Amino acid sequence: MDIGIEKIGFYTPKNYIDIVELAKARNQEPDKFTIGIGQSKQAVPAEYEDAVTMAAEAAEQILSDNRTDIGLVIVGTESSVDESKASALFLMDLLNLPEDARAFEIKEACYGATAGVQMAYNFIANNPDKKALVIASDIARYGINTPGEVTQGAGAVAMLISNQPEILKLENKSVYMSCNVGDFWRPTFSKTAFARGKFSNQIYIEFFQTLWEKYQAKYQATAEDFKAMLFHIPYTKMGAKAMRTLEGNIPDATYAELKNQYQESIKFGREVGNLYTGSLYLGLLSYLINSDVKAGEELLLFSYGSGAVGELYSAKVAKNFKDNLNSEEIKQTLEQRQQISIADYEKIFSKSIKNGEKVDPAEVTGKFYLSEIKENERLYSKK
Ligand code: CAA
Repeated sequence: MDIGIEKIGFYTPKNYIDIVELAKARNQEPDKFTIGIGQSKQAVPAEYEDAVTMAAEAAEQILSDNRTDIGLVIVGTESSVDESKASALFLMDLLNLPEDARAFEIKEACYGATAGVQMAYNFIANNPDKKALVIASDIARYGINTPGEVTQGAGAVAMLISNQPEILKLENKSVYMSCNVGDFWRPTFSKTAFARGKFSNQIYIEFFQTLWEKYQAKYQATAEDFKAMLFHIPYTKMGAKAMRTLEGNIPDATYAELKNQYQESIKFGREVGNLYTGSLYLGLLSYLINSDVKAGEELLLFSYGSGAVGELYSAKVAKNFKDNLNSEEIKQTLEQRQQISIADYEKIFSKSIKNGEKVDPAEVTGKFYLSEIKENERLYSKK
């Protein structure tokens, strides 16, 4: 039985800041941010947006009217809104999902959604008449005037996993590793992350190298087997740094071609910023929409979550994948955004809805929003 991604949805907030403006405001060379880091724009979520509302927006795009066959709902996030209740449960009524489902949240930094995808694969293998909804949703926040600020972002990618992989067939070929590493963390008291930036880059690259060795040995694979290698993209230069470890170790022409293909996978991430666990899947979407990849070609996906877990797995592009992607809608989502000033971004950054406060629906640009915090409980609405 074939198992894989049937549909993909994507959401990012309406507001963004320009990275050159951010560089100027921080007294940095704009080229450092646009070339050295490799970003152009950064999504800025509104006060009423969070991991739940963005997950709902992305998932709503890919759900049909008949939702009764959804048996598993997983939200991968490191931007939880509650220490107990899973984000997935707020989606049950927002998205009108069936009660006859397992719904929960997975946290392991930027790896969460990949854990969800692999769990969904096993679920469909055992329940072929069902579908699984896996959503990656995060707000990447390091704080104003920190080294990580240029690598912030926000958004969600939703994937429907089933035995009708109209977009991508998962091949069940995978290698993974987990180690206790202090490269990046966010204590429960903090809304912003702490990172040992250079160390996190180093661990990311080492995990890729180790897993690539393991993958080659386990499956007798070579770089020529893959049309593209897709990476977790906290900022677009990061994947390129990991890929550079292949230079001189694989044929020059193959390396040059993989580098070309990588450029297509970072187009959307450059415009949005870090989605944390959604970044790999936004890269996949960018690649499928912007590249010349053809049905039957094989992709290698590198997932990395600080702390740290890494996984390298392969997938095959499905026959009519182009017809099953909402390419125009996704391009419009990116084009129809609004630039805000650095001063406005800083104001939004420091604000949050407090207990007892309500949101005026007239201010809301999307469909789903945090409408009120009542008795310290977050209440959500659909417009
Ligand atoms: N023109 C062109 N390039 C320039 C330049 C200029 N004028 N000035 C500097 N650069 C280049 C530098 O040479 C450097 O390039 P290389 O990395 O290729 O050497 C690049 O710009 C960045 O410069 P610095 O290393 O000096 O930048 P920094 O010290 O300010 O920090 C960072 C960069 C470590 C990535 C920081 O933004 C950070 O801490 N980010 C958060 C952590 C992170 O994203 N880690 C990624 C791996 S962990 C992960 O992936 C999980 C996750 O999502 C967080």
